[in-house]
Amino acid sequence: DVCLFVCLLLLSVLLCVALVSVSAFVEELDDSVCCMKGVYCVLLCDVVVLQFYAPWCTFCKQLDPVWHQIGSELKSLGSPVNVGKSDATTNTGLAKEFRVRGYPAILMLKKGVKYNYSGPRTKDGIMDFAHRVGGPLIRSLSSLQLFQHAMNRHDVMFVYVGATSQLKGNYASAAEELIVHTYFFSATRDVLPKAVALPSLPAVVVFKDGTYFTYNEESDGELKSWINRERFPMYFKIDSYTLYAMGESGNINTPQSDVNTHRNFYFGFMEGSDYINGLVMGEVIVPSLIVINLSNDGYFLPPGAVETERHLLDFLNGVLDGSVQCHGGNSATQRIRRFIYDAKVTLTVSPPVFSQAPLLGCFLVGFPFTILAIFCYLCCKARSNVSDDDTDNVVLLASSQQHRKKTTNKKSD
Ligand SMILES: *[C@@H]1O[C@H](CO)[C@@H](O)[C@H](O)[C@H]1NC(C)=O
Ligand SMILES: *[C@@H]1O[C@H](CO)[C@@H](O)[C@H](O)[C@H]1NC(C)=O
Repeated sequence: DVCLFVCLLLLSVLLCVALVSVSAFVEELDDSVCCMKGVYCVLLCDVVVLQFYAPWCTFCKQLDPVWHQIGSELKSLGSPVNVGKSDATTNTGLAKEFRVRGYPAILMLKKGVKYNYSGPRTKDGIMDFAHRVGGPLIRSLSSLQLFQHAMNRHDVMFVYVGATSQLKGNYASAAEELIVHTYFFSATRDVLPKAVALPSLPAVVVFKDGTYFTYNEESDGELKSWINRERFPMYFKIDSYTLYAMGESGNINTPQSDVNTHRNFYFGFMEGSDYINGLVMGEVIVPSLIVINLSNDGYFLPPGAVETERHLLDFLNGVLDGSVQCHGGNSATQRIRRFIYDAKVTLTVSPPVFSQAPLLGCFLVGFPFTILAIFCYLCCKARSNVSDDDTDNVVLLASSQQHRKKTTNKKSD
């Protein structure tokens, strides 16, 4: 019954909203940052990093102090990047122009081209994004010193080597799209260390994990997809945003994929188990080993203890050949189970409201119940008119998703 489902959904959403808004901390942002006066000013700015927010959005409020810091820091660094923010609920034309779907939406506009930010909403993450996208598309490394300096700063580094060519054109168009994720460099052959062996020029090379790989058009497929797959180090610290980005970056198995098992997997470690607990819907013992299928949210657990490299390889091969059972996934039943799990976690994580201010707690729960009861009454009384409430539902669902992101530290927008 659709009506019942909507009622249940609304109930949990209202609960979430109520609980979250209690813990909200509002900080006033002063408007000394450039480009805050609306559409025309923003479009006149050459390079601007923009935050779209909604007055009711808790995550936007949490981002406010960070945003303020970013503004003053970029200014004091003499960066050409301007920092702005815009209330998407009043500046709807602008929000539409940028196709804003969730809040806060972080975007960059450079010479009329828009770039989406999808990383963690931290100062470092956003500053790095502003610096990367605000600078040249392809950074030229003109000396060995500059090359070494860049190598020290970046875990993964793409370098185009050679003169102008068709490949360079492809490299530039890949950069146009993927600059939101990684830096792009170019160099001449004599700038690279002698030890780097290149079969032919021009070439695109990725330096990572203390070694390098050269792009091979025949076996690696399209340059853009190759860059998208190779932009992650072999083994590194992963957060939920990165995990989501990995899922988005496409299948790591190219048709001519390496026979080596390890090239079929990304490897990494996660701090804390919140995200994985949400995925397996239970408590994971730390440390543990888990394989996730990023295409369908399925997961695999080793059948026994993994103590040697042999055990690990057997487990990974078992995942690939299907002999290890896949759990979870994103089927309809799994989604419902996850929804219930999230609601349960939300209620058990937030009891301080009830113990510290029982009256307030009752009000917070009781008020949505009342609204819900009225809604259900109206909804069931006039089912044919349910579609009138569509706009309200959109807003509430958006905040529900953002809440989920917080409790399970999940996927970014
Ligand atoms: C940015 O995100 C919006 C909505 O999420 C999408 O419609 C748009 O195509 C994205 N833009 C780019 C340049 O990826
Ligand atoms: C991962 O999920 C995709 C999509 O459901 C499926 O085609 C693929 O076989 C799965 N991979 C493994 C190793 O189970």
